[in-house]
Amino acid sequence: MSTAPTYATYPSLVDQVVLITGGASGIGAATVEQFALQGARVAFLDVADKPALALIEDLTPRSKHAPLYHHCDLTNIENLQAAIAAVTEQLGTPRVLINNAANDERHRFEDVTPNSWHAGLAANLHHQFFAAQAVAPGMKAAGGGSIINMSSISWRIPTAHLSVYVTAKAAITGMSRSMAKDLGPSNIRVNAVLPGAVLTEKQQRLYMSPDYEQELFKVQFLKRHVMPDEISRLLLFLAADDSSAITGQDYIIDAGWI
Ligand SMILES: NC(=O)c1ccc[n+]([C@@H]2O[C@H](COP(=O)([O-])OP(=O)(O)OC[C@H]3O[C@@H](n4cnc5c(N)ncnc54)[C@H](O)[C@@H]3O)[C@@H](O)[C@H]2O)c1
Repeated sequence: MSTAPTYATYPSLVDQVVLITGGASGIGAATVEQFALQGARVAFLDVADKPALALIEDLTPRSKHAPLYHHCDLTNIENLQAAIAAVTEQLGTPRVLINNAANDERHRFEDVTPNSWHAGLAANLHHQFFAAQAVAPGMKAAGGGSIINMSSISWRIPTAHLSVYVTAKAAITGMSRSMAKDLGPSNIRVNAVLPGAVLTEKQQRLYMSPDYEQELFKVQFLKRHVMPDEISRLLLFLAADDSSAITGQDYIIDAGWI
């Protein structure tokens, strides 16, 4: 008997239009892959063209629908609105939105300026609201949808050198709950996901070290890394009809930390 892990498939995601921001790398790329392998029509927005095109090349032969990529700097809200309009024109109304893109660049408390503060919130918070606002009318007309906003446990644990990012990630949970209330009458569900330390290629390259790994495994109940596709599989569930009565919630996925 095989001991390979087997995972759920979701019939309600087949042919569904799914929009993912920051889908070219990290958790976003794993999520593009997981939804594409479920048979969804996936569109993703990013600025990293090279990994985006490599991802499409990898997934096209393995997916029912080749993912669609639009280059879009999400800090420019007009560009974001135009990209969402283009995706809707090409694939149809998104019924799932995953607000995933972020920038966790480290900064010292003393070095934050009014400009870097605004830029940090633009990179981590503003686009989540305006992407939701842009997809909501289409979801409403189609009978409903699921919006998932990526937060982080960073505002629940002691986190240094990330004050702007952490502020945005805390705000996202409040924003998600308020959106869930506003959009509930349109049968649009909104939930926030709070990952712990996820071993993306970028985290491994920039921040992982034997010392950090030792610290991590001290605080986590599970003494191993959380991988990007483990986050994506929670996103599949929250996007699918299987979670049809779940809205306004925060989901921590951190191998046991909080
Ligand atoms: N990796 C972790 O340990 C971790 C922990 C907690 C929460 N999260 C959250 O999960 C989500 C994904 O994290 P990740 O680690 O995969 O991130 P990442 O930095 O590896 O990837 C982010 C993606 O978003 C894109 N992006 C960033 N700014 C953009 C912009 N202005 N316009 C367009 N695209 C842009 C990047 O090019 C990249 O492809 C984020 O919301 C992050 O806050 C991650």
